[in-house]
Amino acid sequence: MTPVFKLHKIIKRYGQREVLHIEEINIHGQKICAILGPNGSGKTTLMRIMGLLTRNDTGTVNILGEDIHWGKEQLLKLRRQMTMVTQTSFMFEGNVYDNVAYGLKIRRMPERGIRAAVEKSLELLGMSAFIAADARNLSGGERQKVAIARALAVEPRVLFLDEPTANIDPQSAVEIERHVRFINRELGTTIILVTHNLFQARRLADEVFFMWDGKMVERGSAKDIFEQPQDERTRSFLSGETVF
Ligand SMILES: Nc1ncnc2c1ncn2[C@@H]1O[C@H](COP(=O)(O)OP(=O)(O)OP(=O)(O)O)[C@@H](O)[C@H]1O
Ligand SMILES: [Mg+2]
Repeated sequence: MTPVFKLHKIIKRYGQREVLHIEEINIHGQKICAILGPNGSGKTTLMRIMGLLTRNDTGTVNILGEDIHWGKEQLLKLRRQMTMVTQTSFMFEGNVYDNVAYGLKIRRMPERGIRAAVEKSLELLGMSAFIAADARNLSGGERQKVAIARALAVEPRVLFLDEPTANIDPQSAVEIERHVRFINRELGTTIILVTHNLFQARRLADEVFFMWDGKMVERGSAKDIFEQPQDERTRSFLSGETVF
């Protein structure tokens, strides 16, 4: 099977500083992959390159079998198959319906299809009752659920979650995890998750990447990484010995 992501010898610099240097990453479809590592280790940068939002300086990116040449049409086509939810999601002015419908409107879906997709997506996140609520008055956790519903409404092949439950109470976080798992299993969505919640990574991920100083120092099944980390840095990070 063609991997969803194939990254080879990726380097990203800001000014003189090399913030990412990845030899090789292959991610196959329909998996939940967690990217772990300390602040500043390059997790978001890596995710943004995979989502075609930040351009790498050297190396090659292949997504869904296509070599990325960063041409406008290719970017548009592939970006439409991927959506991203960040830690603090932006809500547009208007109600929850408008916010969830947003991606479908720009994809020019007919209005009737949009309503059905929005309703389905909100239902999946347990947020149907909020459909007419003003999006800006929602609580942090509710916003996050709406943001995930918005991302899902377009039925992406890939969903990027960058610390999606960082501001969320434990009960709602567990609920969101349940939805993430459901989406992955039932819709076959590939999920790339960045989290500082190690328990969450362990509960959700099929595969874990551990980043350190721009490099991927270890990768493996969640079980192997959490139970038998091979790299000293992974071991100390997971045991909480590393102080940042
Ligand atoms: N646009 C930018 N301009 C300059 N430096 C940047 C930019 N984006 C990221 N960096 C730097 O690149 C490094 C990696 O940042 P990145 O956001 O990928 O880290 P991260 O692993 O996501 O960290 P965190 O856990 O804090 O979110 C950091 O040192 C950061 O300061
Ligand atoms: Mg980050």
